[in-house]
Amino acid sequence: MCGIVGYIGTKQAAPIILDGLARLEYRGYDSAGMAIYDGEKINIRKSAGRLKILENLTRGGESMPGICGIGHTRWATHGAPSDVNAHPHFNTSGTIAVVHNGIIENYIQLRKKMTARGYQFLSETDTEVLAHLLDYYYKGNPLEAVAKVLHRVEGSYALGIMFADCPDQIFAARKDSPLIVGQNEDGCFIASDVPAILKYTRKVFYVDNQEVVRLRADHMHFYSVDEEETEKTPVMIDWDANAAEKAGYDHFMLKEMYEQPKTVSDTLTPRVKGKEIVIEELNMTEEEIKAIRKIHIVACGSAYHAGVTGKYVLEGLARIPVEVDLASEFRYRNPILEEGALVVVISQSGETADTLAALREAKAKGFKVLGIVNVVGSSIAREADNVMYTWAGPEIAVATTKAYSAQLIALYLLAMKFGKTRGKLSDKEFSCLLTDLRRLPDQIELLLNNKLKIQKFANRYIGAKDVFFIGRGIDYAISLEGSLKLKEISYIHSEAYAAGELKHGTISLIEEGTLVAAVSTQPDLYAKTISNMVEVKARGAFVLAVTCEENKEIEKAADYVIYVPETNPYFANSLAIIPLQLFGYYVAVGKGCDVDKPRNLAKSVTVE
Ligand code: F6R
Repeated sequence: MCGIVGYIGTKQAAPIILDGLARLEYRGYDSAGMAIYDGEKINIRKSAGRLKILENLTRGGESMPGICGIGHTRWATHGAPSDVNAHPHFNTSGTIAVVHNGIIENYIQLRKKMTARGYQFLSETDTEVLAHLLDYYYKGNPLEAVAKVLHRVEGSYALGIMFADCPDQIFAARKDSPLIVGQNEDGCFIASDVPAILKYTRKVFYVDNQEVVRLRADHMHFYSVDEEETEKTPVMIDWDANAAEKAGYDHFMLKEMYEQPKTVSDTLTPRVKGKEIVIEELNMTEEEIKAIRKIHIVACGSAYHAGVTGKYVLEGLARIPVEVDLASEFRYRNPILEEGALVVVISQSGETADTLAALREAKAKGFKVLGIVNVVGSSIAREADNVMYTWAGPEIAVATTKAYSAQLIALYLLAMKFGKTRGKLSDKEFSCLLTDLRRLPDQIELLLNNKLKIQKFANRYIGAKDVFFIGRGIDYAISLEGSLKLKEISYIHSEAYAAGELKHGTISLIEEGTLVAAVSTQPDLYAKTISNMVEVKARGAFVLAVTCEENKEIEKAADYVIYVPETNPYFANSLAIIPLQLFGYYVAVGKGCDVDKPRNLAKSVTVE
C-alpha cells in the first residue's frame, strides 16, 4: 500500500524523506512525490514510476532545501498511476499540501460539493478533496481545520499535512490506515511503517484511530478529533531492520494473511450503502443486469479457484448459469459466447498473460468484459470494459492470500447485486446475507488468532508425501485453493477432489497415515461428506475436518477437527480457507522452505 514519510527538525528534510520512502518500497507503489517548505513557500515534486525518478528529479533531495516536509509513495486506487495523480496534492493556492493513504469513501459527494463552491480539481484522486476541504475550513487555526475535515470524511486515512502559513509544524492523523510518529534529538517524523524511520529513531508512538498529531521540531502533541489534547506513551522498537519491513512478522505471507480482515472490509464496506449494494464500476443498468443470460468466469490459479466459488454463489443467489474456465484453456477453445453473455476475468496482478489473452478473445467476439483486478492501472484493468477493484493493497508473497479473499468478496457482492436486481432474493434474504457479510472480517480475525493450534498440527505433517483435500460444492472450491496453498510453498504433493469423485480412481492412493483434509461447510452436504471421510478412514487415512461449529456429528468420522464460525453457507469459503492457508504456511515454515518466494514461481505470470 502507499507509504508516507514526513520530517520536521534541524536537518535537510528531503534526503531523510527519500531515504524513508525507499525503505517502504516493499509495500509496492507506482508513483512518488514530496512537498518541502523552503522558507517562503511549499514546493512539490512528484512523478509516476519508481522512486529513482524522484531522486534524480531532486538530486537526491538536494535541490529541495528545507527542514520540513512530507513525502509519499502511491499505490493507485482512484485514478491511474500518473504524475498528476501522484501525491502530495495541493489546494488551489499551493499553500496546503496533503499526502494520504487509504480510501475516502464519500469523496464523490464531497467533490461535487467542493466543485459547486468553485474549487477546481486537477487529479482523479479521492485525496485531492482533502486539500480543498482543508482550504475551505482553514481560518488561521490548522488544528481546527484538520479536525473539521476529519468530521466530514468517511473511509480510511493516514495523513500528512503541511500549511505554508505554519511552517514550524506538520500534522498527522489516521483512521484504519497505519501511521506512526517518532522522535529523536534532531526532529520528529511521520511514517506509515516502522522501517521508514528505524535508522533515525526507535522511539515511536502508534497513532490511534481518529487521532491528530501536531509535530514540531522538538516536540509532538496528540489530540482527539475533537481537538482535546491527549497523553501518549512511546514504544521502543527492538526489531532488526529486516523484521521491521514485515512489521514484525516472519514472512510477508503471514503478514498478508493477517491483513485479510482489513482487505475484506476494504473491498466490502465502500460498496455497501445503507441496505443496498452499490457497485458503481459495473456501469450496468437494471435492465442490463436483468438481460444477463450467462456468466463466463475466466482466470488462472487461485483466481480461478475464487471463480469456482463464484460459480456456486452466482448460480445460487442470482440463478444465472455460470461457466468457469482456466484462461489458458478458454483462449484456445474458441468458446461459444452467446447474446446476453457477461465475461468476468479475475486477476490479482492484472498482468497474467493467459487472462489478458482471454479478455482480448472475448472482446474480439464483441462481448463486454468485467475485470475483478487488484492492481490499478494494470493491463487487464486498462483493457477491461469495466473494472471492479479488490482493494487488497500490494501483495508481496508469491502465494496469494489476501487478494484471493478480496476476490471472493467481489464475487459475493456481484451475486447479491444480481440476485436482488433480478428478483431472486427477497429483502429479508438480502438483509440476512448483508449481516453475514459484515461479520466476516471479525470472524476471520478470530480464526487467525487460532494459529498456534494449526501450527502444532502442521508440524506433524512436515514429512508428508501426499496430502488430499476433499469437499463437495463450495467445499470442493475451498479444497482446490487449500491444496494449492500447501503444495506451492511446501513442495508436498497434494491434490483436491470433489469428495464424491475420490472412489473413481484416486482412493487407491490412500495408504496408512495419508492425510486427507475434508472440508465440510455446506449443511445440505454434511452427511455426504461424512460418508466419504469414513471411506478413506477405513483405508488408513488420517482425516482432518474443517467444518462449522454446529456440525459436531463430524467428530465421529474425523481424527482432528477445526471449527469455523457460523456464516451463510455461500460465504463459508472466506472462513474455511483461513486455517488451510495457515496449515500450508506452517508446513512450509517447518520444512524450512522459502515461503515468500517458492522455487520456480513468479508473482506475475506474464508469459503463457
Ligand atoms: C497461487 C497464486 C497463483 C495466481 C495466478 C493468477 O497462490 O498466486 O495461482 O493466483 O498466477 O495470478 P493473477 O491473479 O495475478 O492473475
